[in-house]
Amino acid sequence: MTSPSGSAASLQALPPLRRDPAPLERVFSGVQPSGLPHVGNYLGAFRNYIAMQDGHDAIYCIVDYHALTSTHDGEAIRRNTHEMALGLLALGLDPERAVLFRQSDRPEHLELMWLFASVTPVTWVERTPSFKDKKRSQPDDINHALLTYPILQAADIAVYNARYVPVGKDQAAHLELAREIVRAFNTRYGDIFVEPQAVFTDSPIVRGTDGGAKMSKSQGNTIDIFGDEADIRKQVMGMVTDTQRIKRTDPGRPEVCNVCQLHRFFSPTDYETIWDGERTARTGCVDTKRLLSERMLDFFAEARERRRELEARPGYVEDVLQAGAARLAPVAAETMRICYDAAGLGPRA
Ligand code: TRP
Repeated sequence: MTSPSGSAASLQALPPLRRDPAPLERVFSGVQPSGLPHVGNYLGAFRNYIAMQDGHDAIYCIVDYHALTSTHDGEAIRRNTHEMALGLLALGLDPERAVLFRQSDRPEHLELMWLFASVTPVTWVERTPSFKDKKRSQPDDINHALLTYPILQAADIAVYNARYVPVGKDQAAHLELAREIVRAFNTRYGDIFVEPQAVFTDSPIVRGTDGGAKMSKSQGNTIDIFGDEADIRKQVMGMVTDTQRIKRTDPGRPEVCNVCQLHRFFSPTDYETIWDGERTARTGCVDTKRLLSERMLDFFAEARERRRELEARPGYVEDVLQAGAARLAPVAAETMRICYDAAGLGPRA
């Protein structure tokens, strides 16, 4: 873990989330309600969510406000929010140790976003890579919220004055912008917020089954964690391997083969043997993929079982989300009080 990068003078007094003897460093992350979590979500970020719930004040959020920038299907947002929360809980997010909540249950995020918007130059958001990508991928819906997206993301983190933000590498630019926005706010109003730092896993970029683009729902190149076994096997068997290995007898190159790279994680004790089989053409791509699908199903067996258990408990997910938002209410209220006071909004304190 890296050392602190800023001070949090005025917000040090935020109510602690739990009564630990010493205050813990705060962690925040958000995930879009894109439906079922996939292997890229897990390797890139969720395993850090779970690891960081110990020893930190960890807060995790399903960002449904952010989802509005790309979908206006209300039913889908609600269903996918539930599904993502259920998946996280099944993967080991423990509501006793961390807070899980739905962004739209804490509208202070939007209030703080407005204050942040007022110190963010338009040029900063216009040049954000994700905005440029969206202009290309949804040319008929370049809505204003897309431009404001990273400002809301900065506010998400700052409402709780979080220092560490576990995310995939694709979020690096958003985190850099969040730091700049917080710095701009602090410059104007005093040292109110700590500058948040991204925390990456050792596999911060996970390529999809096409072997090229990062694994993401919108690319249609995911390996699902909670899908049917047959579907997961099909996704793995359809993976692109080393494109230069054409004949079965050609030697493979594990360094470039996405299947071999995933074995590094899912076969931690014998991936080198697996790689060696590829290099010497002792094994074929099909063997290596079949083994990967077995290893993945083993790895996620417990989570898949837990998801089935939790799914059978009516109202459980909703209760967790609402309890999470309620626990955060005093923290969010205190942040807004400090910020309104500094910005001259509302009656003088
Ligand atoms: N933009 C993030 C993503 O697509 C989601 C997100 C929203 C987020 N707010 C956040 C991540 C705050 C970290 C912190 O993955």
